Amino acid sequence: MSSSATLAPVSPLSDRIQAMNESATIAMAKKSRELLAKGFDVINLSFGEPDFQTPQYIKDAAKQALDDGYTFYTPVPGIPELRQAICDKFKRDNDLDFLPNQIVVSTGAKQSLANAVLSLVNPGEEVIVFSPYWVSYEEMVKLAEGIAVPLSGTLENDYKVTAAQLEAAITERTKLLMFSSPCNPTGSVFSRAELGAIAEVLARHPHVYALADEIYEYINFVGEHVSLAQFPAVTDRVITVNGFSKGYAMTGWRLGYLAARPDIAAACEKMQSQVTSGTCSITQRAGLAALQGGRASADEMVAAYRRRRDLVLDIVRDIPGFKTPTPSGAFYIFPEVSAYFGRTAPDGSTITNSMDLAMYLLNDALVSAVSGDAFGAPDCIRFSTAAADDKLVEAFRRVKESLAKL
Ligand SMILES: Cc1ncc(COP(=O)(O)O)c(C=O)c1O
Repeated sequence: MSSSATLAPVSPLSDRIQAMNESATIAMAKKSRELLAKGFDVINLSFGEPDFQTPQYIKDAAKQALDDGYTFYTPVPGIPELRQAICDKFKRDNDLDFLPNQIVVSTGAKQSLANAVLSLVNPGEEVIVFSPYWVSYEEMVKLAEGIAVPLSGTLENDYKVTAAQLEAAITERTKLLMFSSPCNPTGSVFSRAELGAIAEVLARHPHVYALADEIYEYINFVGEHVSLAQFPAVTDRVITVNGFSKGYAMTGWRLGYLAARPDIAAACEKMQSQVTSGTCSITQRAGLAALQGGRASADEMVAAYRRRRDLVLDIVRDIPGFKTPTPSGAFYIFPEVSAYFGRTAPDGSTITNSMDLAMYLLNDALVSAVSGDAFGAPDCIRFSTAAADDKLVEAFRRVKESLAKL
């Protein structure tokens, strides 16, 4: 018998993966699918996914790409035509000048964010994350062995962190700032004045870079989208991330991109070259067609998202104990729900936090939502509003009824 056979069993898994949390949104969606499979009529409002089909002209381009033989490996940072089209998009929509060597196309904004975090952050460096934040930011920072420093906005300010808060949080170890606008989960949109003030703070701290996640750019109900990279004092230190999942309803295609200074873009390309290579050749041709088609299809979807937001807010404003800011973009509502903590459910259990409340709503109302913990806001709960109008009305009717039992 070998001596190793007598040793206590040790997990083969790395400390890195054991320290990582599973995505809370994916976990909740999994639970609601399990209930669905058992025949329960669950309305899933936990996922951040448009319920629209990808526009037909984009699907047609993908079919054409197959027929034209686009089945080979592509350059790691993307096909040249797509990188150029992304530069044209930045010029048209954001008045930003990039060259193709500053663009890295990836398998979704998620990979672009991970590429940037892993390419910039050293172990022990701090990453300021505007909170509430998207679930994956903190885990990406952990993966890079950085230290996530959540910085919370207030309910009164629609959860937007101010320039003064940022100034106070920057230390000599700060490397990066991460945020999304429009924001998932809050739907908040930073104004030109607010981002300008943030840019001024960053300008005073040349060791700090910024990762601006603009994946919800097109889903904006206030009209003006401002990019942090538009402020000349910081343009060189901003990595702008965007993609096709939300604006073009292309979640399953896996296509995103970042734009950055050439040395940072090259680093992200190197990271990607060793992990995934170029994203799907057919998807890239579809993305090219999407951009060439402009944003008309997105505008149609945005009109529906806006209508649904208003529909849901009308119902939710009547729910006692929910404090719900009006989202300016994206497709979520993010009420503060702490008034329900400490209450007793019909089965005798106590709702102690937003996770308990989310589980109660899943089991009692058959509506799945995500607890705010995963977004750095444990007093809140996130509902997606990307569902058909009648589903939303029914879901929030059930939520209201279930909450009344507490
Ligand atoms: C804020 C934010 N960033 C990035 C992503 C990832 O987008 P993609 O599907 O392009 O990877 C999401 C998706 O939910 C998101 O909400």
